Amino acid sequence: MATLEIKDLHVEIEGKEILKGVNLTINTGEIHAIMGPNGTGKSTLASAIMGHPKYEVTSGTVTLDGEDVLEMEVDERAQAGLFLAMQYPSEITGVTNADFMRSAINARREEGDEISLMKFIRELDSKMEVLEMDQDMATRYLNEGFSGGEKKRNEILQLMMLKPKFAVLDEIDSGLDIDALKVVSKGINEMRGEGFGCLIITHYQRLLNYITPDFVHVMMQGRVVKSGGAELAKQLEESGYDWIKEELGIEDETVGQEA
Ligand SMILES: Nc1ncnc2c1ncn2[C@@H]1O[C@H](COP(=O)(O)OP(=O)(O)OP(=O)(O)O)[C@@H](O)[C@H]1O
Ligand SMILES: [Mg+2]
Repeated sequence: MATLEIKDLHVEIEGKEILKGVNLTINTGEIHAIMGPNGTGKSTLASAIMGHPKYEVTSGTVTLDGEDVLEMEVDERAQAGLFLAMQYPSEITGVTNADFMRSAINARREEGDEISLMKFIRELDSKMEVLEMDQDMATRYLNEGFSGGEKKRNEILQLMMLKPKFAVLDEIDSGLDIDALKVVSKGINEMRGEGFGCLIITHYQRLLNYITPDFVHVMMQGRVVKSGGAELAKQLEESGYDWIKEELGIEDETVGQEA
């Protein structure tokens, strides 16, 4: 079992504190969901874990099996087994989707132990079939001209090909039609298992109907303010966030908006 541990994480963007002490522990084999109103720091947490240069960690720790993740460069984090599907994936012209994935896979392997082209293609074909993706998506430039839904599906294709230890999926369900939602959920459920831990950031219980989370966390004011099981997401769907704000005496749940 591997463990990704976030302890009292504080993060600033351009001198403004956005994360104010996030605590979260994810083990492989577990699926966690983070929910929470807009502007409460969810994407900031994802970016900080992956080492986005704009996000400055001012205190706290992120460790993977005790190893300091914050000391690692972005590519080292990927090599250590972390994966991020961004809320808004970027387009990269000149690099095909397939080439991108093959390089990413090989970057995690020793020199001389690269995946063979045949094996790569076989695997790519089978995963694309699971995700019901058109063959030509592999040879197109990464995300260029991909529809919103195609980008999200493609993030899951990358996930299935790269097989990271831990994945952070930021709003992987946004903009997906019902069929795509089912397909993307199928892909994530296929990854589920002993060697894989996942943090799913979502606004909707809908996704969690297909992927039952082991833990659900609510983020407000740049912190995890409440945690529970799958039932917590259902409760939020029915009752919204006001009851949590009342319970905790929170007036403004957002971060970074105050003057
Ligand atoms: N790169 C940035 N530059 C300036 N402000 C930022 C940046 N990234 C985040 N923020 C601010 O930090 C706060 C939290 O943003 P974040 O994207 O983490 O929220 P979120 O919980 O993911 O919201 P949503 O549910 O709308 O995606 C917001 O006020 C946002 O404007
Ligand atoms: Mg966000």
